[in-house]
Amino acid sequence: MNDPTPDTGTPILEGNDLRKTYHLGRVKVPVLHGASISVNQGEWVAILGSSGSGKSTLLHLLAGLDRPDQDSGDVRYRGEKVELQDGGKTNHYRNRTIGFVFQFYHLLPELDVLENGMLANLVPRGRSAGVLVFIMALLGGVIGALMGFQAAGDWGLLPLEERTEIRSVVLAVACAIIGSGMMIAIFQGVQALWLKTRMRSGDAADVARSTLGDFGLEKRYQHRPRELSGGERQRVAIGRALGSNPDLLLADEPTGNLDERTGTEILDLLQEKHRAGLTIVMVTHDPKVASYADRVVRLRNGRVLQNEDADSVVDEMPTTDVLDETIG
Ligand SMILES: Nc1ncnc2c1ncn2[C@@H]1O[C@H](COP(=O)(O)OP(=O)(O)O)[C@@H](O)[C@H]1O
Ligand SMILES: [Mg+2]
Repeated sequence: MNDPTPDTGTPILEGNDLRKTYHLGRVKVPVLHGASISVNQGEWVAILGSSGSGKSTLLHLLAGLDRPDQDSGDVRYRGEKVELQDGGKTNHYRNRTIGFVFQFYHLLPELDVLENGMLANLVPRGRSAGVLVFIMALLGGVIGALMGFQAAGDWGLLPLEERTEIRSVVLAVACAIIGSGMMIAIFQGVQALWLKTRMRSGDAADVARSTLGDFGLEKRYQHRPRELSGGERQRVAIGRALGSNPDLLLADEPTGNLDERTGTEILDLLQEKHRAGLTIVMVTHDPKVASYADRVVRLRNGRVLQNEDADSVVDEMPTTDVLDETIG
C-alpha cells in the first residue's frame, strides 16, 4: 500500500480550474468557480473552509464521484485525466486507486463490521461482470429462441392448423426473452453465492481482518454498525477505504461527527497511515483538525486560496461561537 516512494515533484492528484453549479429547478447554485489544487505523492493536504463553501463538492469531483460543469477544467491522477464517461477506468479509480471516507461513515447497516470492511475488495474488477452478464443473457436468448422454434414445430406446441411463420417467430422471441431472464437470474444467484463465500474465506476477508484488526476492531467483526460507537464506525469506514490498498485517501470531515477525544484518535490513526506513506486529502471546517496536515489550503468563494504552513493555522483558531456557526 501507499508506496512510500519519495516525492518526485509530480503531482499524484490535480484539480484544475474546477467549476460546479448545482441546478435546483430553474435556480442555479454556483459553488465552485475555478478551484485548483495540486497534491504531491506522500503529502497530507487539508482543505479548510466554512460550512457550505463547497468542500464536499470539491472532494467529490476529485474522487470522480461527481462531474464538474461542461466549461470546467479537469481532474488528473498522475497526470492522466479522470473521465467520468469512461465507466471502466473511472470505476477503477473510484474503487481501487482512491479510498473515500465520509463524514457520516456510510456503512451498510445490514452487513456486519467484517463484511463492511471488505466491501472495497469485493467490487468486481473492471467491466468483467458486465460483459459476463451480457454473454449469459445472449446465450440464454439464443437457447430460448431455438427451444421456441422447436416447441412450435417438432414438439407441436402450436397445432398444425394454427402454425404460421409469424406465430412461430413470436413464440421463439418470447422464449428468447424468458431464456435471457433465467440466465441473468442464475448468474446473479451464483454471483451472490460467490460473494458470500469470498466474504467468509477469501483474500478480501484476510485483508479486512488485518486492517480492521490494526484499528482495534477484532472483537467487533460480527457486530452491525448500529451496535458501534461513532469512533468505531469511522474506524470501520477508514478500514474499508484502505481495504483496497489505495494510493490516495480522500476524507470528508472524517472527525466532523465525533467528540474531540474520539476525533483525535481518528486523526492519530490517519497520521500513522500517513507516516507509512499514504497520501491524504482531507476537507474540514476546523483549523485544529486541519493542523494535522502537512499543508493547508483554504476554500473561499469557490476557489482554493493560498497555501500555508499547517502550524500557523492553529493560531487562527476561531472562538467557540464562530466554530458553532461554521460546523458543517
Ligand atoms: N446536490 C445539490 N443540489 C443543490 N445544491 C447543493 C447540492 N449539494 C450541495 N449543494 C449546495 O452547494 C453548496 C456547497 O455544498 P457542500 O459542497 O456540501 O459544502 P460544504 O461541504 O463545504 O459544507 C451549499 O450551498 C449546498 O447547499
Ligand atoms: Mg460537507
